[in-house]
Amino acid sequence: MRAEHPKLEAGLAALGIDVRSGTSLSELTSLGIGGTTDLLRITKHDFIPDLIELLEHHNIPYKFLGGGSNLLVGDGELPWVILQLAKPDPEIVLEGNFAHVDAAADLGRTVTFCAKHDLGGMEGLIGVPGTVGGALRMNAGAYGMQIGSYVREVKLYRAAERKIEILKGNQISFEYRHTSFGPDDMMLAVTLELPSKPFKEILQGIRICNEKRRSSQPLGQKSAGCIFKNPPGASAGRMIDELGLKGLSVGDAKVSDRHANFFVNAGQASAKDMLALISDVRGRVENAFGVKLENEVVVWNA
Ligand code: EPU
Repeated sequence: MRAEHPKLEAGLAALGIDVRSGTSLSELTSLGIGGTTDLLRITKHDFIPDLIELLEHHNIPYKFLGGGSNLLVGDGELPWVILQLAKPDPEIVLEGNFAHVDAAADLGRTVTFCAKHDLGGMEGLIGVPGTVGGALRMNAGAYGMQIGSYVREVKLYRAAERKIEILKGNQISFEYRHTSFGPDDMMLAVTLELPSKPFKEILQGIRICNEKRRSSQPLGQKSAGCIFKNPPGASAGRMIDELGLKGLSVGDAKVSDRHANFFVNAGQASAKDMLALISDVRGRVENAFGVKLENEVVVWNA
């Protein structure tokens, strides 16, 4: 999809939008898969309602991209433009035990920045790739913690209301890899309240989590983290492993040899390959265990 109409281009320029024509989503996603479209980078949160109105006026469908680390995007020319927040400077402002963080901030860098200021709690999230906004939207978690536990306030673009709103933590429900945000809501900024802890102690926790992750997950390979959610009381990775499916592949899409719930792009995998592999593995698990695995990865297929 191209944002090419002269009036649209003038409108985008007036809203301070940086347009990157013909961007390949394979370069913006950790799986390294995805077709081409125009990327619209947002520099001012306040202009988002006007931007949405402008796009809708010109019949341009859009999708909102965070860090691209939990996403499988379709192949070829994509039928929507992509909106993404530009990173502000600074990304994080601390005030006592509160961290005010822009949604575009890198999650890992946020954890270490807070740690250096003796604010802990998020050690488990250290190796989780992506942005703070992406982590917030899906309530990312690992090693017994989830980001939702620390959220006190969220600034977001409410798609249903077509305006920017501030929600208190207790107005949002955070469940396992799920939140009460609407599907088209855009996370803009968050205030976290973090417990005070000496840096040395936080660092020790970070090292332990890093070590566990390194020993069980394929960190150097292109993936979207876990493909499926864990069903209640069970592990999707263990079930897939028990069926002997590590190494199973469709084209260059492959079930990781290291962790069976990670599917990797071992070369030039297409979305079609990856979707076929997901469907094959889901079918085999359902046949063997009677459990229909639900995607954790978000799929944007044309
Ligand atoms: N296991 C196997 N074979 C495998 C993978 C796992 O037998 O190929 C077994 C492990 O030995 C372990 C059990 O399954 O006994 C659970 O495995 P693991 O500790 O790796 O945890 P997981 O349930 O597979 C979850 C999250 C991860 C998170 C880790 C650590 C989900 C879907 N996955 O994985 O999150 O990093 O716990 O807390 O909830 C993600 O969300 O993308 C993700 C990677």
